[in-house]
Amino acid sequence: MEIRKLTGNLGAEILGADLRDESHFDEIKQAFTDHSVITLRDQKITPDDHIRFAGKWGSINVNRFFTPLQTHPQIAIVLKEADQTGAIGEMWHTDHSYDHEPAMGSILHAIETPPFGGDTVFCAMGPAYDGLSPRFKELLDGLYAWHSSRHVFGEAQARSDAAKTNRIGNSELATQDALHPVVIRHPLSGRKGLFVNPQFTTCIDGLSKAESDAILHMLYQHCQKPEYQCRVNWRPGDVTMWDNRATWHKAINDYHGHRRYMHRITVEGCALSAA
Ligand code: SIN
Repeated sequence: MEIRKLTGNLGAEILGADLRDESHFDEIKQAFTDHSVITLRDQKITPDDHIRFAGKWGSINVNRFFTPLQTHPQIAIVLKEADQTGAIGEMWHTDHSYDHEPAMGSILHAIETPPFGGDTVFCAMGPAYDGLSPRFKELLDGLYAWHSSRHVFGEAQARSDAAKTNRIGNSELATQDALHPVVIRHPLSGRKGLFVNPQFTTCIDGLSKAESDAILHMLYQHCQKPEYQCRVNWRPGDVTMWDNRATWHKAINDYHGHRRYMHRITVEGCALSAA
């Protein structure tokens, strides 16, 4: 197995591994701990293999809003047809941060990829936190922020391209709001990292709207610096797993006229502690 770092701060691609092979798991797990985003190239797996691999990390957390694979409801379909305009996950986000116990990780399997584009971009929340000034870190440590599913998957989403084409639904289940520390201590690595994201975080608790908006805007600009990013270019068969407590991600919607079809499984996490 060969593990190649994608950038200085985030991500690795893994060549020569087979996620079905029990003897490869420890090395894959170590790579995930070290790099937060891992792409296992060229996997020849079925939905059952995908589910078995996810089960090695924890229980599966079934997404309430994505249309599931009919034969395997644990798998969420991430699809954009050639004639559709909106992709799922186009805005920077952390999967399920609106839950009290946000998902630990997500495992995305590329079934069909466009001839160009359709990459996924990730940001590293630990290095982004480290890059702030000591006085600003002092201000953030101890703050909490609200996250919600309502404005993304609730009533308003019924007008989105993804809802109109039945790729997301269940807007009546978008009732989750959760309060998390702005700076968490990562449950596995112990590293400090930012835990706010542009899609699901609604405000910082206890601040005025103007104060909260200003701080979140500044953090979002900071986190998007290229030095905190890595980019995964997909080929059919690739499987990428990311740590939702250490990263943001977004799908790049630059392949209009082509189909992109992926299977995603999300793994349960735990309540997050302030750093
Ligand atoms: C997601 O947001 O989970 C999907 C990312 C992607 O399709 O690249």
